[in-house]
Amino acid sequence: MEITENELQSLARTALKARSYSYVPYSHFAVGAALMTEDGRIYRGCNIENAAYSVAVCAERTAIFKAVSEGERKFKALAVCGGKAGTEPENFCTPCGVCRQVMAELCGLDMPVYLVKSAEEIKKYTVRELLPLSFRLEQNEK
Ligand code: THU
Repeated sequence: MEITENELQSLARTALKARSYSYVPYSHFAVGAALMTEDGRIYRGCNIENAAYSVAVCAERTAIFKAVSEGERKFKALAVCGGKAGTEPENFCTPCGVCRQVMAELCGLDMPVYLVKSAEEIKKYTVRELLPLSFRLEQNEK
């Protein structure tokens, strides 16, 4: 299911807004994510760090886990943006490998992932493009 241009705009703007809630006293790198369900609801996520560094959670997983823990299972798009905290993103922030694996598991390989630099500068990928040859239980069972 493709998203409309209006939906993409609100998803991108929501990811940019979510970024402002990041808790990043260690990396000072703020990431925002927004996940749209099949019926158009949007769940936001930001990265949240910890003095015990490895405990940090990425924005993408925050958004996905928030949605799944509210009973959502069908998603049509994810938007991600990131950059130095307190400034506008200077580059397209690409999801880390762990988040790509979570997307493959919970969002499906064909879901679009939009990398957002600003509301006007957006690049589209699919989960499959971001994580080729992914490990999934359904493959394992064959
Ligand atoms: N980060 C994300 O939130 N998402 C990504 O896809 C890449 C990295 C966060 C983790 C950490 O808080 C900060 O960015 C620097 O790595």
